[in-house]
This record gives sequence, structure tokens and C-alpha cells, in this order.
Amino acid sequence: MMLLESDLRADVDPKAHTTVRRYMDETGAEQQRGPSRSAALVAACRMLAAELPDSEALVNDPYAHLVADEASVAAARVDEPLQNTIRLRSKYIDDAVIAFAGTHRTERGQMLLLGAGLDARAFRLALDINVYEIDFPETLTLKAELFGDIAPLSPRAVVPVDMAEQSFVGPLVNAGFDVDQPTIVVWEGVINYLTNAEAESVVEQIGTILAPGGQLVADYVELSWFKKQGFDGATKKISAQLSNGGEPLKAGLRDAAGTLDRFGFDVIDDEAVEDLRPRYGLDARKRFYPARIFTASRRP
Ligand SMILES: C[S@@+](CC[C@H](N)C(=O)[O-])C[C@H]1O[C@@H](n2cnc3c(N)ncnc32)[C@H](O)[C@@H]1O
Repeated sequence: MMLLESDLRADVDPKAHTTVRRYMDETGAEQQRGPSRSAALVAACRMLAAELPDSEALVNDPYAHLVADEASVAAARVDEPLQNTIRLRSKYIDDAVIAFAGTHRTERGQMLLLGAGLDARAFRLALDINVYEIDFPETLTLKAELFGDIAPLSPRAVVPVDMAEQSFVGPLVNAGFDVDQPTIVVWEGVINYLTNAEAESVVEQIGTILAPGGQLVADYVELSWFKKQGFDGATKKISAQLSNGGEPLKAGLRDAAGTLDRFGFDVIDDEAVEDLRPRYGLDARKRFYPARIFTASRRP
């Protein structure tokens, strides 16, 4: 990616993430890319959880209001099903990382956030674990500006990488990641911004950096949900909106279970996100979204 301009704004207005870079893509066409809008949107969903009673909030993200801008809060507020899904998946992943960190308390465990966006787990969970965060440079730069000098609760390193363009393994190891340490990888809300080939390549890379027993937690779209219309037909409108923000929606993993098996993972849990409600003491509801979430363990 060739940058044509540096940031249009030197300092970031937390009310509007307007830092945009122009660049030339591989065909020579001029494109724009700024910090992830989808990351701001899901942070806004976590922020709105604070308006709910504790039993329904499921997630407590005291930093979400710092990183969600006005546009993302407005978009989240009118999308209650999305808010519900984000709260459920946040709770599932929080529980998984807290359990993993607790099990490996005596060793120096690691957590890798792949497509970390504006996730505040390193700041809000006392995990006593080394945290690595991978995302596009633009999003990590914005995050650094928004968090300012707030200290993370766990040692944290950021690794700017476009996962669709290059392997993250070298940059991650250069940043201090230890392939022999117990690690949990969180890949939250990202698979659907990757093609099947890109997502499979990421699973393969995760397989190479995880010691046996290491875990991968990720959400993905159940493609069979779309029946005749298929993923592309059913998501045309939302995909067009997201493309405007430089984040076109993609079908992600075609066969999550098969890909995980092929690259050395055993699936230990796989559930429709909305069907998690009873697990957290909430009433069961009819599914609205095709999102699923899994935990997989690296085979010895
Ligand atoms: C919906 S957001 C989720 C952010 C975060 N995981 C969370 O749940 O709060 C998707 C994130 O994936 C990142 N992402 C998407 N494609 C990526 C790629 N090819 N390389 C690195 N990051 C990517 C985006 O920049 C964005 O931060």
C-alpha cells in the first residue's frame, strides 16, 4: 500500500474519527482508508450496554465511551439486534480469556487479539498475561491517540499488519510473542472482513504460533443460513454501506469446522451467538443473526 498523504488531521477528535489516508491500490486506483468504522460500531454497542440492568448488560467496558464516536453510537443505538449479539459475544470471549488466564496463572500466558480494533480487554481485565494486538496501522494509531496515557492492566504490544496482505507471524514474534507460551487467540468480529482464502491462511498461521492446548476463540457467519439468496445476495445492502467505509463485508470461512480440523484444532464449543442467552440466565429468543462463535484447542 502506498501512502499519498499523512494524516489529514494531526489530532483526533474523539467525537468523530475523521483521520483518513489516501493510497493507491494494486491496480493504481486511488482509495481511502481510515481507522475501522466497524471497530467503532462494536465499541458503541459495548458502550450502550451500560444503559441496561446488570443482568442484561453482560459486558462492562468502561473505555467504550472513549473510543466510540457520535456516528457509531447513533448507528448502534438503532440496531438492537446487533447490540444484543455484541454483548453476548463479548461475554463469551471475556469468560474464555479469564478462564484461560486463570488456568495458566503460574506461567506467563499470552493473549493475541487478531483484528483488535478498539477492544479494551488489555485495559479493563486484570488478566496478568502479555497482550498482543494486531490490526491495520490506521486503527492502532487512532487507538493509541484515544487511550492516550491510560495504562493497560497487562503488558501490551501492538503489531500493525494487514492480515489479508502479509503473514502476521514474523511481525508478532519480532514484537516479543513467544510461540512456546500458553496463548489464547481472540479473533472477534473479523472473519467476515476476509475472503475464505485469507481467513484459511490466518487459521493456518494461528496453528503455527500456538503451542498444544492453546486456544482460538472466534465468531463467524453460518453461511447455510442464507439459503437460495446466498451470502452475497442477502448482504448486498449492508455490504455496500460497509464498502463506503472501506470495509467491504466478505463471506469469511466457508467451512469453519473443516478448516480448523485441517490446521490442527479440535473444536470444544460452537454455538449460535443468540442461543447463548440461556447460558447467561437470559430468556431464549428466536435467532435473528447468522453469527456463531467457537472455542477451539490446538491439538498436541
Ligand atoms: C468489527 S471490528 C472488531 C474489532 C474488535 N475485535 C472488537 O470486537 O471490538 C473488525 C476489526 O478487524 C480489523 N481488520 C479487518 N480486516 C483486517 C485485516 N486484513 N488486517 C488487520 N485487521 C483487520 C478491522 O480494522 C477492525 O478493527
